[in-house]
Formats: sequence, C-alpha cells, structure tokens
Amino acid sequence: MRVVILENAKAVANFGADKIASLIKTKPQCTLGLATGSTPIKLYQQLIEQYKSQQLSFSDVSTFNLDEYLGLDGLHPQSYRYFMNENLFDHIDIDKRNTYVPIGNTSHPDQACFEFEQTLKSKGGVDLQLLGIGRNGHIGFNEPSSSLTSRTRVKTLTEDTINANKRFFKKEEFQPHLAITMGIGTISEAREVLLLATGYDKADAIQNAVEGPLAARCPASILQLHPNVTFVIDEKAAQKL
Ligand code: GLP
Repeated sequence: MRVVILENAKAVANFGADKIASLIKTKPQCTLGLATGSTPIKLYQQLIEQYKSQQLSFSDVSTFNLDEYLGLDGLHPQSYRYFMNENLFDHIDIDKRNTYVPIGNTSHPDQACFEFEQTLKSKGGVDLQLLGIGRNGHIGFNEPSSSLTSRTRVKTLTEDTINANKRFFKKEEFQPHLAITMGIGTISEAREVLLLATGYDKADAIQNAVEGPLAARCPASILQLHPNVTFVIDEKAAQKL
C-alpha cells in the first residue's frame, strides 16, 4: 500500500486525474471503476478540462460505477447515474452505452446485481478503481460488517451514512435506506485501486484503513491486502496517521 499525503484537496484531485489520464493514454480501451460523493468532483472537473483542451479522449473507455440508491431511477437528481452524467459523462466524448451504473429502479435487484457482475466480467474487469471512503470506513456502500469477499448486492445503509448523505436531499425528499453496491470482493479484483480522502472528517477512517487491523468493521482495511493500491489524501485526512 502506498500513501501519498498532499497539501490540499486540489492537489489530491490533480494527482488522481493525472493517474487516470495517463492510464487512458497508454490504454485507450481501458475500464475505469468510478465513484460518487463530493470527494471525486474536482478530479472529474480536471478530466473534463483535459478533454476540452484535447489532451484526452474517452471514446473507447468503459466505466463501472460502484453503487446506486435502490428505488431511484437515473433521472432522479439524487441518483448516482444522474450525478455521473452531470459531473462527467455529459461533458466528455464517452459513449454512454459503455457507462454502467447499477440500476436502482428495478423490481428485481438481485437479477440486476448478477447482470452487473456478468457485464463487468465480460469487459475483462476494472483496470483502475477510484474510491472515496465513508466516515465509518465504508467503500462503495459496503458498510461496516460487510463480508470481505462480497459481490455486487443490496445493502442496508447505516444511520451514519444516511445522515452524512442527507445534505444532498431536500428536507421532505425521500432518501433511500437501501443501495446496490459492488461487493468488497468485486472491488478488490480491480487491477489498481486509487482511494481519495480529504478533510478532518475522514481522519479516523483513514487511520483505521491504513494502520488498523484487517477487519470487517472497517471495510477499507481490506485494501491492505491489495497488491496495487494508493491512498491519496490531504494533510487533514492524514492527521491521525
Ligand atoms: C457515499 C458513496 C461512497 C463515497 C462516500 C463518501 O456513501 N457511496 O462511494 O465514498 O459517500 O462521500 P464523500 O466523498 O461525499 O465524503
């Protein structure tokens, strides 16, 4: 495991964007694993800049997103499909048919999870998986106590995660308590993993993930076993290391 500590969130975003850009340049048909949340937004802006200045093309890239709220369709402003369109896909030359976000508005979620795994397999797996981290150490929506070998499935969100994500929903708006998420086993199969974290809020999670025991109570700690993982964090998120 490599831990790169940078001055601030902007430097973290630049580092992550450069890593993704160089992968796309060496392997234009690569498969990216993408994340939502506030942390990767600046990184996506950087990638859009590089596309606009004609340094980068996404025309042959495929993407798989980590997770989606169960019960929200892709047109819902809080859905992760909507987030990805707004923050990245609508601004670059990617073929949207090659962008896979778990389907949230389904009455057969288990089937949707199975098909997501099958599609991922048929595309040859993820070359580079981008991750954020929850305050409780979750990755994707794999909450503490998730099986470390789990595959894509439905998970119940913890109160802490629901509260942390409340800021994105209007006061009276329905906020799902269930989500579809790639499993920890699925995530671990990516050939390379890049986890970004910024801010004091993430300091405990980063300490547990990097220095704590390998434990289901901190799902990100599984990454200690990954042969090619980099944590890119700012000084605030690193304060407890
Ligand atoms: C959500 C997402 C995670 C993300 C986490 C942290 O729970 N499912 O993939 O890493 O939020 O989000 P933020 O970057 O906004 O702190």
